[in-house]
Amino acid sequence: MKDLKKLLEQMTLEEKIGQLGQYNANLFIQSGADITGPLTQAGLSEEDLKHVGSILNFKNAEEVCTIQKRHLEQDRNKIPMCFMMDVIHGYRTIYPIPLALGCSFDTDMVAECTRMASKEAAASGIQVTFTPMVDYVRDARWGRVMESCGEEPLLNGLMGAAQIKAFQGDGIDKPDNLATCVKHFAAYGGAEAGRDYNTVELSEHTLREFYLPAYKACIDAGVDMLMPSFNVLNGVPAVANSWLMKKILKEEWGADVLVISDYNAVGELLKHGIVDNMKDAAKLAFDNGCHIEMCSSGYIKYLKELIEEGVFTEAQVDEAVMKVLELKDRLGLFEDPYHGASPEKEAAACLTPENRALVRKAAAECAVLLKNDGILPFSEDVKKVAVIGPFADNHAIKGFWACQGRDEETVTVKEGIEAAIPNAEVVAIKGCGDQWDDLDKSGFDRAVMAAKEADIVVLCLGEPQNYSGEGNSRGDIDLPGVQNELAEEVMKANPNTAAVIFTGRPLAITRLSKTVPAILNMWFPGTEGGSAAADLLFGKMNPSGKLSMTFPQAVGQCPIYYNHLMTGRPKAPEMDLIHKGYASNYIGCGNLPLYSFGHGLSYSNFVYEDLTLSQDAFTADEKVTVKITIHNDSDVKGKETVMLYMRDLVASNARPIQQLIAFEKVEFEAGERKTIEFTIEEPMLRFWNNEHKFVSEPGLFHISTGYADHLVHTKELVLK
Ligand code: BGC
Repeated sequence: MKDLKKLLEQMTLEEKIGQLGQYNANLFIQSGADITGPLTQAGLSEEDLKHVGSILNFKNAEEVCTIQKRHLEQDRNKIPMCFMMDVIHGYRTIYPIPLALGCSFDTDMVAECTRMASKEAAASGIQVTFTPMVDYVRDARWGRVMESCGEEPLLNGLMGAAQIKAFQGDGIDKPDNLATCVKHFAAYGGAEAGRDYNTVELSEHTLREFYLPAYKACIDAGVDMLMPSFNVLNGVPAVANSWLMKKILKEEWGADVLVISDYNAVGELLKHGIVDNMKDAAKLAFDNGCHIEMCSSGYIKYLKELIEEGVFTEAQVDEAVMKVLELKDRLGLFEDPYHGASPEKEAAACLTPENRALVRKAAAECAVLLKNDGILPFSEDVKKVAVIGPFADNHAIKGFWACQGRDEETVTVKEGIEAAIPNAEVVAIKGCGDQWDDLDKSGFDRAVMAAKEADIVVLCLGEPQNYSGEGNSRGDIDLPGVQNELAEEVMKANPNTAAVIFTGRPLAITRLSKTVPAILNMWFPGTEGGSAAADLLFGKMNPSGKLSMTFPQAVGQCPIYYNHLMTGRPKAPEMDLIHKGYASNYIGCGNLPLYSFGHGLSYSNFVYEDLTLSQDAFTADEKVTVKITIHNDSDVKGKETVMLYMRDLVASNARPIQQLIAFEKVEFEAGERKTIEFTIEEPMLRFWNNEHKFVSEPGLFHISTGYADHLVHTKELVLK
């Protein structure tokens, strides 16, 4: 442990302020004439660079070690720099995108993948990851839904906490572990019309009940840092939003976490028209508790002046600097400034056969079988397979924001199938492109020919991996280009066809769903995507993913989500049918989604036999035991995510038509019957009321299992 107080005392004000800046690695690698441009752009002098406290966007261990060594040689205080980066779904060995991880409903599996990523990333020089992203999402047009676990606040919070614990491991001072940063606080996923960086306008109860809980769960899990979001929330950009940063984060949650702005978000306060100069931007952000400024230079340029003018005291700067130094100390950087990283360790840790095996299993666990008219699994005895479509032999399926993952290291569907059934002949035909403006059908003939000659067809469709992720919103969320037409032609040629789709968001694939007998959604599955697809198609693995985000029938239904309120003029009186709670139908597509939250098929046949409650009325200090009996009425071993839902029938605020309150992923042997237990406690029934409090109200609740669109065994429970 370093004597940080003593260290702080010996630092000049410039040195202290430097600790509050974070910049891209290129500023520290380039030199001479090459650096003048980037430096001017960042508004920095070469002198400023000497004191900078942390770095992002570097390449590998070699680069980190070089920068750190050079820095320590010139820094009179010998304060190591801290190296931060986004490890979103793997470092070099890539596992499925977070939206797919949500569909696994398996926090242990997510933790296992995260541990693997942590080891690879730490060996390569990363000390802090900007993970987890727990933005709650309801609009598939937004490209960053791929980074979220979906439309369920409980699931998002549990997945966020699992990642934090897994990255931190047995302590962030240990070389294999990383410190974490929860983002983007708050409600970045509520961007109007799904346009990235767009305005967010949300009522307090919607924020409190749906958008904020996952960030709070991450604070409770002991996250090391927090990143405010880019967006305006109810009129004020997050980094300058005192309601959010002071009242909620500090006062209510008591969170004393190190805060870092998002990339240039302090600079963007000018674009938002909240201030008209960088000095005021720095003032607002610092005043709202933003300790580190990422990539803009308001602090380095103006904090000193703001102290001299008496706006801030040096003690306030000391407090912020201390938090940065504390993180470095907790990471053990004063003892080992490289945190165990080295080029040799990186080479040994990355892309090992064990890591590949793990992400292969994960990709299969996250995939969702959306439709199956009995055609899947295919027999392994087939002689001739036609793999058709733009994703048939396409390596670009690892997904957006895949750190150092490389397309060329990713297994394609064709390669996966060839390895799975080595005696079969496998041909791959692209048929058409995957871009929205790829309208050329000249490849159809070859595709149709191949389909006719094959025993089975695997139709590989989807959107390109850079159609989701930051800045990549879509106004049309069907399959781009002429992929639907290709599917129709191929089906006419050979009905033994199953579609496999690759996507970073729910797609409105209504047309495809009417064309093919089976659809397997792989999302963006990562490095072993093609192997996992083959495992599922030929029955080596049994699909078990369930949607964590609703698939709409048409883009016009967005935002669409299962936990919505009832209107005064529902379409159907049945309480157990979501989406009928809406008043008028959309002409043409109605209100129902294509595939609801919770939907996902299996090769097993799970029969929900019974749900019992230990009592039908309870008081706030009692607990109710729920028992759900499920039978795997098939000869296939499989996993089922058992979900528990509640509905508050009468309350002083309108309540969602369904809310998930607990879940568990359970494995069943063929023919096995199991009883799963859950406990209901009064806090699970609370909501944000008009007096600005979380409360439960006595009265009748419905308790059900199944999944949102297919609730079963609804029982009544009274809270006394
Ligand atoms: C993103 C963040 C990310 C940061 C640093 C920003 O553009 O919004 O999610 O952590 O860049 O890479």
